[in-house]
Amino acid sequence: MRRRIRTTFSTVGIIGAGLMGAVLALGGCTAAPENGDAVTGIIPAPVEFDLTDGAPFTITTETRIIANGDAARVAETFAAQARIATGFDLPVVADAVAASDIVLVIDADAGTGEEAYTLETGADGVRIAAPAAAGLFWGTQTLRQLLPAEIERTDASTPPTGGWVAPAASVADAPRFAYRGSMLDVARHFLPVEDVLDHIDRIALLKLNVLHLHLTDDQGWRLAIDAWPELTGIGASTSTGGDGGGFYTKDDYRRIVEYAAERFVTVVPEIDLPGHTNAALSAYPELNCDGIAPKPYEGIEVGFSSLCASPERAEATDRFLADVMTEVAEMTPGPWLHVGGDESLATSEADYLDLVRRITAAGAATGKTVIGWHEMGASHELPAGTVGQYWDFTTPRDRSAELTTSFVEQGGSVVLSPADVAYLDMKYPDDPDGPLGGKVGQLWADGPTTLEEAYAWEPTSIVPGLAEADILGVEAPVWTETIATAAELEFMVFPRIAAIAEIAWSPIPDGGAARDASDFHVRLASLGTHLDALGISYRKVDGVPWVE
Ligand code: ACM
Repeated sequence: MRRRIRTTFSTVGIIGAGLMGAVLALGGCTAAPENGDAVTGIIPAPVEFDLTDGAPFTITTETRIIANGDAARVAETFAAQARIATGFDLPVVADAVAASDIVLVIDADAGTGEEAYTLETGADGVRIAAPAAAGLFWGTQTLRQLLPAEIERTDASTPPTGGWVAPAASVADAPRFAYRGSMLDVARHFLPVEDVLDHIDRIALLKLNVLHLHLTDDQGWRLAIDAWPELTGIGASTSTGGDGGGFYTKDDYRRIVEYAAERFVTVVPEIDLPGHTNAALSAYPELNCDGIAPKPYEGIEVGFSSLCASPERAEATDRFLADVMTEVAEMTPGPWLHVGGDESLATSEADYLDLVRRITAAGAATGKTVIGWHEMGASHELPAGTVGQYWDFTTPRDRSAELTTSFVEQGGSVVLSPADVAYLDMKYPDDPDGPLGGKVGQLWADGPTTLEEAYAWEPTSIVPGLAEADILGVEAPVWTETIATAAELEFMVFPRIAAIAEIAWSPIPDGGAARDASDFHVRLASLGTHLDALGISYRKVDGVPWVE
């Protein structure tokens, strides 16, 4: 007998003996834990997830990973971590298959689109099939969640008591949206490369496939640009709150991009223009209308800085735009270049439109598709395909809806980041003074923001007039005015980012019904065991049956 669990109908969670009462309350999904975890579940919920009554799969010392060509690359990424956790050899080989093996195979019939995949686990082994390497990679992330949480460990000292067992299961899966993003503001506070790499691993577990780096702002310029060395020479020396500076060399940035690419995550660099530019203006007087460089800025106000639109500064400004865009684009293999455009409150409307035309033209001249925050929709001269990123609330205010649909009217598409549900720097509830001594987290976007609020919104219901096909995707930004360390970042990001990842990947329930938060809570408890094994200190919000 198979128990078919379609995301659109019911739970994907399986809970162990200690939590059986909760399971029964969720509709009789009564399987015992088959992988040694107290809880097993997948986030984001797969399109189809069938638990079979077959014998489970076990990784043993005999297990090999069978893969060829592009599949072998994905196999190596999975094996590298699994070897650390298990202490087994787990060779990646192109060979005949044995029952103890994990097989990764490119198969055009395994789904529609590069990110689709199928996964079968059982006593005969594991078989992940996908039309392309990206789908295989997402299949390995599902396998990662089916295995005991100890698979995340950085040493092999604590194997799971029941062995490396994955329940017998069958998955057919593909994402709802092509763009599933996490944004890190590394400008207000700099985040060292190693911490960014850790973040990439963690968002890949949730099948997020875009890392948007907000690289420049009033408080810091974080990426080396050869033609304008003082952008980092002077502009990277500060951050919010006087916490010191920092920047990525070109090699650092390339390392991030390559590490992300191995995990099928595309880096979207953001150079925020024409406002949010105090760090650049403080480095180069010629970019300022009065020719005087302002002091570096370490506060948290917004809307006071702007590039200069006047003809006297046109040569310097256009050279700056061309040089920066060209160098950033050269280091960025992904298709997108984010040019900001938000909160340019110190720029007159006429100057804003003029500067946006020049900024987006410089961006498009690199061959990249330009992305801008929704204010940029005020321009009717956007380059073909320009993507608008909506950051107003779930109920649009002022002109935000009209500014956003302007991108679609001009042939582009939209990424949704409604601040009241998707901004992960908003405080959690029941913690009005902040989780870390009162200094971390903000409230301005209708905060505090509950896990349930982060989970309860539907992308097609935010901006009137936007259809599914107009929405490129969904992104969860985290702004770092109040977040100074990787530990603080993790605490704010997890677990709410899991809610955003599910909205971005998993289909809406049949008939447009609301997503089932209690089902999500059960699966989140399972994800929590993996976050624990990864050493992430996250907010254990109420309402989730966390495993202690
Ligand atoms: C933004 O929050 N200013 C994009």
